[in-house]
Amino acid sequence: MSTHERRVAGKRLKRIDGIGKVTGKHVYASDFALPGMLFGKILRSSEAHARIVRLDLTKALALPGVRTILTAKDIPQILFGTAIKDRPVFASDVVRFRGEAIAAVAATSLEIAEAAVRAIEIAYEPLPAVFDMEDALKPGAPQVHAGWSDYQALPVFDREGNISGRSSIAVGDLEAGFAACHRVYEHRFTTQHVHPGYTEPRTAIASWDGNGDVSVWCNTQLPFDMKNMLAEVLDLPASKVRVVVPGIGGGFGGKLRVGVEHFAAWLARKSKRPVKVTTTSEEELTDAYPRQPTVITLKTGVSKDGLLIAREGKVLLDCGAYANSGPGTAALALQMLAGPYRTPHFSYESVAVYTNKGSTGSFRAPAGPMGNFAVESQIDLIADDLGIDPLEFRLRNVYREGDAGPAGDTVTSVSIEESLRRAADAIGWKDRKPGPGRGKGLACSWWLTTGGSSGVYVKINPDGTVTLVSGAVEIGTGAMTGAAQILAEELGVDLSDINATDVDTHLSPYDYGAQGSRTAFSVGNACIAAAKDLRRQIGELVAPLWNVAPESVRLEGKGVVSGNNRLSLAEVAGLSQRTGGGLISHGTFIHPMPTFDPTRVKNHPSPAWTSHSFHTHAVDLSVDEVTGEVTINRYVVAQDVGFAINPTYIEGQIEGGVAQGIGQALSEEIVYDGGRVLNANLTDYKMPTMMDMPRVECILIEKPSVNGPYGAKGVGEPPCIQPPAAIANAIAAATGVRIQALPITAEKIALARLKDGD
Ligand code: MOS
Repeated sequence: MSTHERRVAGKRLKRIDGIGKVTGKHVYASDFALPGMLFGKILRSSEAHARIVRLDLTKALALPGVRTILTAKDIPQILFGTAIKDRPVFASDVVRFRGEAIAAVAATSLEIAEAAVRAIEIAYEPLPAVFDMEDALKPGAPQVHAGWSDYQALPVFDREGNISGRSSIAVGDLEAGFAACHRVYEHRFTTQHVHPGYTEPRTAIASWDGNGDVSVWCNTQLPFDMKNMLAEVLDLPASKVRVVVPGIGGGFGGKLRVGVEHFAAWLARKSKRPVKVTTTSEEELTDAYPRQPTVITLKTGVSKDGLLIAREGKVLLDCGAYANSGPGTAALALQMLAGPYRTPHFSYESVAVYTNKGSTGSFRAPAGPMGNFAVESQIDLIADDLGIDPLEFRLRNVYREGDAGPAGDTVTSVSIEESLRRAADAIGWKDRKPGPGRGKGLACSWWLTTGGSSGVYVKINPDGTVTLVSGAVEIGTGAMTGAAQILAEELGVDLSDINATDVDTHLSPYDYGAQGSRTAFSVGNACIAAAKDLRRQIGELVAPLWNVAPESVRLEGKGVVSGNNRLSLAEVAGLSQRTGGGLISHGTFIHPMPTFDPTRVKNHPSPAWTSHSFHTHAVDLSVDEVTGEVTINRYVVAQDVGFAINPTYIEGQIEGGVAQGIGQALSEEIVYDGGRVLNANLTDYKMPTMMDMPRVECILIEKPSVNGPYGAKGVGEPPCIQPPAAIANAIAAATGVRIQALPITAEKIALARLKDGD
């Protein structure tokens, strides 16, 4: 970066994919079609835990238009999974949750495929099932996976029976710490299943070519992981699998893993025709990757003047029938219990548990809202009991620059105090209880910017435009616009000169994927590396012509400059094409790994966090005296973004995250009755709409990170972390009612008031 003022990065420019998306012309994976394609549908279990004793396809196969029906018998018995390879493509002998795939049909129309699914005859013999995490841990509980010990799994996790993974972080002397405390508080909090709520269902179109290679067009967040996962379940070398993402209508973590791609690929292989499979809302709410429910217990000891001395915490996390990322998410909850507070003595343990319910997964800030709801609710409970203002209590305890993080890693670029003060000022904290039924609450947190490597190819074309090829998908956040702004800045061109391409694993350089608040950060850094290499190439090309030192050559104003010499970037790209094959570069980046103290952690896959961000949410709300209905009057977010690459889209991320957080706080829950989902439709699964959303006031703090492009930090996940805690705290301020179980529905508030004799 030269010393001139930035022209592109930091500006509120329009996103590069904007026009196609707002006009409805953009082709998402669900719009994608191939000539002659068939439609796939899945037969799903109606039992939560049962043995399949009869499966008769005769009537279904006889329907005209049915081309293929597949069951476990027709494909190799391969188990797949993230932490543990515990999941089959089709249940063979035993089903472990209601909604599990048993067979798949490919037919010439969706209606015929659906009719064929209904015509399959099946009989079950019920097995004892377990639906509650705490029941699943009791001796003699039904085992969700009788053969758990034979599974291949990441070695890091400690597993046994219904425990799919156990992790811990601890330091100090807990007993001595508690003994020295003025008071010790114990509380229990519970959180619910929440669907990621992406607008585009999961979809895949698979097609095999004459060489036995398969191409899959789908809406995955992780094309390179998908390629490897599919190679595994298709029993193929990865080089024979190509994944293309034409467009993805949101993901939020729900599209990290195999969704319907494997069904499409197997059906296409057997039917010798392209096959498309798309989920329905019912399938989304019964067999997707929703946020895992948790039970969190906290025992916290404090000094008289409100300093945290000792804390013990335990997280139980319900993976459902297949572990997926549950053990890793449970481990991440430990950092949420620890930070962003100094505590000399602590011990945190996570236990991920199998139950006979639908599988779950990583949803935007995995473990974030759950851990934060527990910690930040309890901080208010403690502060109130000690008669200390909750803001003041937090300010006394939050991390300071250079503090040790939970794993003994160093916490840098700390801005938690500033975020607390600015959010509190903006909401008018001094007047916390402005009137009857009205109150204000706040919650603060920290989060990481996920690592993993990124590569980009950058090509300068002889018309002066720039092609950016990345393996990261534009998931809807605007992150690829952010990366393109950095690239334009570095190359001295306009944002409108940059063209980004779709991801195709046969053509795109590797990227760890659109996950973990990392895309703009990591791809942006890869763009800086590519631009640096292009400056070198250009310097070497023009220096001999001008008789100048290559290092004196700069890129600015769409031109190449040294002293009084100037050529347009287009001219130089043309020159390079005629003499040396053109200007093209592969820029790469990987986040440096922090050091940590291994004696503090056990069985934890990601103990130390990278490029932390800090944030505070403050809310002013009213609660209806009779119905308990909550109305949000004002909502303020003060978030440290390091450097705001494009403030407009950061604000968009904050607004969207708050909307999801309000949903988790007040209304959303996949409601189970035993193993049955009672609200598997979008009428009864209550996501907030525009009518429920307050205007979100955003305060962007820019305390530069060490490793981010121009100091940027990850921004995508954090905004959905604090709403449940901030809202719970405001409801308590407004009504005196403290709800420790999400979601905080109007009914819960009204019933709690009746109980209090209010
Ligand atoms: Mo995210 S849960 O890393 O997509």
